[in-house]
Amino acid sequence: MIKHAPYDERLAGVYDLMYPHIEIDTAATLDLVERLRPAPARVLELGVGTGRIAIPLAERGYEVHGIDGSAAMLEQLARKDPDSRVTTQLADFTGTTTGREHDLILVVLNTFFSAVTREQQISCLRGVHKQLAPAGRFVIEVFEPAPFHGLTQPTTSVRHLGANAVMLDVVSVDRSHQLMVGVHTILDGGVPETVQHIIRYVFPSELDLLAELCGLKLVDRWGDFTGQPFTAASHRHVSVYAKADEV
Ligand SMILES: C[S@@+](CC[C@H](N)C(=O)[O-])C[C@H]1O[C@@H](n2cnc3c(N)ncnc32)[C@H](O)[C@@H]1O
Repeated sequence: MIKHAPYDERLAGVYDLMYPHIEIDTAATLDLVERLRPAPARVLELGVGTGRIAIPLAERGYEVHGIDGSAAMLEQLARKDPDSRVTTQLADFTGTTTGREHDLILVVLNTFFSAVTREQQISCLRGVHKQLAPAGRFVIEVFEPAPFHGLTQPTTSVRHLGANAVMLDVVSVDRSHQLMVGVHTILDGGVPETVQHIIRYVFPSELDLLAELCGLKLVDRWGDFTGQPFTAASHRHVSVYAKADEV
């Protein structure tokens, strides 16, 4: 059976194993946040997950709040953060706001693309505008969709989750709707379970237009969190927006 709720208990349980080499990226993300807004500052992470970024930010003295739609992911976060230094909210970030202002709002690791319609993406960006404090910054990290947009056949890859577990990923693209469908199957000796994950990718130009519709203006774009230039060869981008009337 294919499940549509991507971050269920099984996936949440292996989530931190899915990106084994991400520590360098995590460190660079924390450093970028510090460069943009030194602690203490109010940070909101959309799709906070298991707290990969949020927990170390809280340890560095930030006031961190995270929204996530998966109870299972927030449970993993709570396990890693027993003193609740990160406050969390079980909600859909395309339709819910915190009712507060934040100096920096962060949405990383392609999480913005999980809003699967243009309307949901606009609603998310409107929410960002509403919650951004004066001189605040919105940081988004997403992949550059060009190589995927041209896919005419599903592609398959395998992730190692540990000595006795792998995840089989099959990705196909519906370019007419800018949708990417990922089918993830965990093979660990137990009953194989398949989860379907749909995202709507946008090109940087469309992202900037959607942001402008919501009163946000691009102020920086890099190819990664260390500030490498964004070029035609970049696989992803880290983009920083501010309120349009402030820049
Ligand atoms: C790829 S994970 C990223 C987790 C974390 N930010 C990190 O970098 O490790 C995406 C997370 O976003 C959450 N998510 C996706 N769409 C969401 C939405 N519309 N509202 C709230 N949470 C969402 C998922 O439940 C998941 O925990």
